[in-house]
Amino acid sequence: MLDPKMALLSLLLLLPLSLLLLLFIITRPRSTRVPIKNRHALITGGSSGIGLALAHRFAAEGARVTILARDQSKLDEAKQAIRLSTGVDVTTLSADVRDFDALKKVLDSVGPSIDVLVCNQGVFVPKELESQALDEIRFMIDVNLMGCFNLIKAALPLIKCDRDSRGPGSIAIMSSQ
Ligand SMILES: NC(=O)c1ccc[n+]([C@@H]2O[C@H](COP(=O)([O-])OP(=O)(O)OC[C@H]3O[C@@H](n4cnc5c(N)ncnc54)[C@H](OP(=O)(O)O)[C@@H]3O)[C@@H](O)[C@H]2O)c1
Repeated sequence: MLDPKMALLSLLLLLPLSLLLLLFIITRPRSTRVPIKNRHALITGGSSGIGLALAHRFAAEGARVTILARDQSKLDEAKQAIRLSTGVDVTTLSADVRDFDALKKVLDSVGPSIDVLVCNQGVFVPKELESQALDEIRFMIDVNLMGCFNLIKAALPLIKCDRDSRGPGSIAIMSSQ
């Protein structure tokens, strides 16, 4: 027969372990598939690099795509490139992510809703911290970090609009080491 003291000790050991296991099962990271086809995706920094590549891909997969950056001529070139490779016309928006009011104005113009927001704009002053001026650091934080807050805050009403009937909404933030 099992010694009662040993049984109590085993229980005391097993209980926290099983709770940890349960917690792990509940909170473990799981990949999520975000539907793209026939949905409205807004990609910032969509006139160049990773953002432009994403815009090509989203357009090719049947999304309605809007790209946002500051320079309208770069946006026009991107639009033309996407049209040539996919036959799809994307919408372009010119605004600086540091300017909340300007963002709000242009985002409201592409409503009524946004399904997928990709905050991809980003700048980097390629120097070590010791050589970066405080203004350069502030510039990166304003565009990369505050820009995301401005974007998400301006876009939330459009993301939440009529959400139940339009499936899951999604916000992605591009980052860097
Ligand atoms: N490339 C890499 O190796 C790498 C590695 C890790 C992470 N990332 C991250 O990935 C993202 C994209 O990088 P990338 O190299 O593809 O960028 P990129 O080619 O330099 O393009 C940056 C984009 O952001 C836009 N942008 C910059 N400042 C803006 C502002 N104030 N308001 C609105 N739009 C602005 C630019 O257009 P305008 O200048 O016309 O505004 C452009 O469309 C960034 O967040 C970056 O930190 C990149």
